[in-house]
Amino acid sequence: METLVRVKVAELLKSKPGKEILVKGWVRTKRGNKNISFVALNDGSTINNIQVVFDMNLFSEDALKPVTTGACIAVKGELVESPGSAQAVEISAKELLLYGTADPETYPLQKKGHSMEFLREIGHLRPRTNTFGAVFRIRHAMAFAIHKYFNDKGFVYLHTPVITASDAEGAGAMFQVTTLDLNNLPRTEDNHIDYQEDFFGRAANLTVSGQLEGELGAMALGEIYTFGPTFRAENSNTPRHLAEFWMIEPEMAFYEIKENMDLAEDFVKYLVKYALDNCADDLKFLNDMFDKELIGRLESVINTEFIRLSYTDGVDILMKSGQKFEYPVSWGTDLQSEHERYLVEQHFKKPVILTDYPKDIKAFYMKQNEDGKTVRAMDVLFPKIGEIIGGSQREESLEKLQQRIEELGMESSGLWWYLDTRRFGSAPHSGFGLGFERLLLFVTGMSNIRDVIPFPRTPKNAEF
Ligand code: 4AD
Ligand code: MG
Repeated sequence: METLVRVKVAELLKSKPGKEILVKGWVRTKRGNKNISFVALNDGSTINNIQVVFDMNLFSEDALKPVTTGACIAVKGELVESPGSAQAVEISAKELLLYGTADPETYPLQKKGHSMEFLREIGHLRPRTNTFGAVFRIRHAMAFAIHKYFNDKGFVYLHTPVITASDAEGAGAMFQVTTLDLNNLPRTEDNHIDYQEDFFGRAANLTVSGQLEGELGAMALGEIYTFGPTFRAENSNTPRHLAEFWMIEPEMAFYEIKENMDLAEDFVKYLVKYALDNCADDLKFLNDMFDKELIGRLESVINTEFIRLSYTDGVDILMKSGQKFEYPVSWGTDLQSEHERYLVEQHFKKPVILTDYPKDIKAFYMKQNEDGKTVRAMDVLFPKIGEIIGGSQREESLEKLQQRIEELGMESSGLWWYLDTRRFGSAPHSGFGLGFERLLLFVTGMSNIRDVIPFPRTPKNAEF
C-alpha cells in the first residue's frame, strides 16, 4: 500500500478520474448494505469529503465493521467518475488499512448538530467537526494574508517580547511571571516581596500589547508590525474577550492619523477580500449552516467606504437616538459595545472609524489635540462586533508625554527607554492594534470568541 504517495482529499476532488491513488483520513459517516458500503472520508484539507465505495465482494463484513464514524483509515483504490450527483469523483476501494478505531459507544462526535457549548467541552476533539475545520482553515488563511499584506508593503515583522517588565499602557490587568516559590516568598527588610531574587531580578508580566516595543522598531525601520499572543487578566466573561488573544500591531514612522485610518481600512478590506477569494468552500458552509447573511456582509464591507466620525459627534448621535441603552452615554464616558453597535448597525449601517476621544479614557501615549481635552485616537467599529481595531497617532513631544505621564501618576522611571524615542530623533508616528479573534468573529460569522481560537483561555478555563 505504501508504494503509492498519499494524495490529499482537496486535491483528489479536483483531479481527473482514472488513476490509482492512496488516501488517508477520518471516517465521517458510513452507510450501505450487504453488497456495498459508502464511506465519507475527510482529512482536514477541505470541508468536503471524498466518497469511498467498498464493493462487499472484495471486502469481508468483519473488515468493514470497525470502519465507523471517527475511525482513521488508509484506502488504496481507483479514482473513478461518480455516478452520484453529489460529487464528480469517488474512490473505488481495493485495499483498506485501519489505523485507529473509534468505539461508537464512547466516541462523542457520533452525530451532527452538537451545540457549540457541548463542543467547547470537548475542545480536544472539536477540530474534527466541519464547523471547526472551516474556522481553523480560515484562521490560517487570515494569518497568512496578514503577513502577505505587510510583506508586500515593505513592513518589517518585528518580534516583540511576550515577557515584559513594563505595564505597556495599562491596557488591562496583567499575568505575573515568576519563578519564586509562592509558598516561601523572599522578603525585603520592610517585608515586601524581594523581586531581586526573582528570575529577571525584577517583577515581570506577560505582555498586554507589543506596541511600546513596536514604536522602538518603527523609529528605526520605518514601518513594522507585530503579530503575536497578548494576555489580559480581566475577569470579563463576554463573547468578545479572551485572556489570551492574538493581536496584529503595525507601527509607522511619519504617519499621521489620516494615513493611519487609511491603512487600517485598506488592511481589513484586504483581509476580508482575501477570505472571499481563497476560502469560498468554508465560507459557503458557514453561511449555509450558521448565518445566511455572512457572505453578503463580507461583500458589503469591501465595497463600502467606512464612516469617519469624531467621538463627540458619535456621542451626539447616541444621545439624540432616543434609544434605551443599558449603560447611559454622555460626553466623557467610554463607549460600550451596545453604543458602538448602534452607530454601526442602526445608524450608519456600515463600519465606522471613531476618532478624537476624550484623553481621560485613552492611553497616555496618544497625541494630544489642541483643544486640551481630546487625543488623536481611532477605533474601528464593525457590525456584530463593535471595536475590532484600537489605535492612534502617538504623542511625539517629549515634554507633553512626560507631562501626561505625571498627570496620570504613572511610574516614568520604568519607561526611560520608551521616552528615549522622543529624546533622540523623535518624529510623528502612528499605529493600531487589530484583535485577530475579533476579525475572525467577523469573517466566520461565529458569535462567540471561544469558537475562533483552537484553545481558548478564559477565566476558570484552561483545560486543553
Ligand atoms: O484597544 P486595545 O487595548 O489597544 C492596544 O492594545 C494598543 N496598544 C494597540 C495599538 O495601538 N498598537 O486592543 C486592540 C484590539 C482591540 O480593538 C480588540 O480588537 C482586541 O485588541 N482586544 C481583544 N480581543 C480579545 N480579547 C480581549 N480581551 C481583547 N482586548 C483587546
Ligand atoms: Mg481599545
